[in-house]
Amino acid sequence: MTAPLKHSDPITVDVALGDRAYDIVIGRDVLQTLGARIAALRPGVRTAIVTDRTVAKHWLEPAQASLAAAGIPTSHVIVEEGEGSKTYAGLEKVSEALIAAKIERNDLVIALGGGVVGDLAGFAAAILRRGVDFVQVPTSLLAQVDSSVGGKTGINSPQGKNLLGAFHQPVLVIADTSVLDSLSPRQFRSGYAEVAKYGVLGDEAFFAWLETNHSGIFSGSAAREHAIATSCRAKAAIVSRDERETGERALLNLGHTFGHALEAATGFSDRLFHGEGVAIGTVLAAEFSASLGMISPADAARVERHLASVGLPTRLQDIAGFAQEGLADADTLMALMAQDKKVKRGKLTFILLEVVGRAVIANDVEPASVHAFLQQKLSE
Ligand code: GLY
Repeated sequence: MTAPLKHSDPITVDVALGDRAYDIVIGRDVLQTLGARIAALRPGVRTAIVTDRTVAKHWLEPAQASLAAAGIPTSHVIVEEGEGSKTYAGLEKVSEALIAAKIERNDLVIALGGGVVGDLAGFAAAILRRGVDFVQVPTSLLAQVDSSVGGKTGINSPQGKNLLGAFHQPVLVIADTSVLDSLSPRQFRSGYAEVAKYGVLGDEAFFAWLETNHSGIFSGSAAREHAIATSCRAKAAIVSRDERETGERALLNLGHTFGHALEAATGFSDRLFHGEGVAIGTVLAAEFSASLGMISPADAARVERHLASVGLPTRLQDIAGFAQEGLADADTLMALMAQDKKVKRGKLTFILLEVVGRAVIANDVEPASVHAFLQQKLSE
């Protein structure tokens, strides 16, 4: 697999969902085209931008300028950064602001931010006046390759992550890859776990390409657009076949059953970013698959080696504060996994691996085998 050496025109990936199909536009500086693209898509529309405090500092003004240049009226609401905004209170704040801004059925909500803003703004749009369209402008790598595409929106309940939400597809996704230059190295790396996920779960050639080319993705060469576009194409293909996750879309949850439990066990704090939880969760899924006689130990080690080579945590012991504060015990981690949406009638659903590049959905994993595996991993 080869990637272009130079940045060129934006790449457009189509999410083929019939009359709800939409484009993902990927490229450096495409934020400047936001207004023109919305004007072409929805002449005469009014907009409201939902963003967070940190993103607003860098990108609210350029987004507003692009909309103004296209003659599009806009207002905005700013929430606090982080999962704390993906709550009933955050939803109330955004919804009331959208109502106050008189956003009507034919208008557009613009989610300008990372996964939290996209999920929150998308859910507010889904329920405002029984459904208003929205545009995703993802500003983190994680949001560009995963959460802004596919229409999953929602907030957390005090009882668990993403327990309230709706499938609500955006009408356009604008992924400006130069925006990612302002992310901290840790945030960028965290998003990279979701890029590698697409190779691990369904595309060995892409995984091999990542093994060789990952540094260009981090430094911002054309490899970055290629990796984001390849990830978005993989996700778009799965979503167009299984929008509501009745089947294969669950493959996109590779690493997430373990990962969400680890995020919950660390209080959704800075000890573990979402993508870091996915990185450790992906390695655990690979090693658990190997313990069940599925993937070869050598392939499981290959997954671990690559994620570790970009500086991602891959072991429970890599979680910040593990040595000092420890982590939950295996019973607690099991209870946290049971709270996840991936549980049906007492059996856990895991995404397991057969080889690098082929994941399978296992609906009947025995909790006892997971418990024993976790106990072993905690004691390493
Ligand atoms: N992030 C997994 C999905 O969108 O299905």
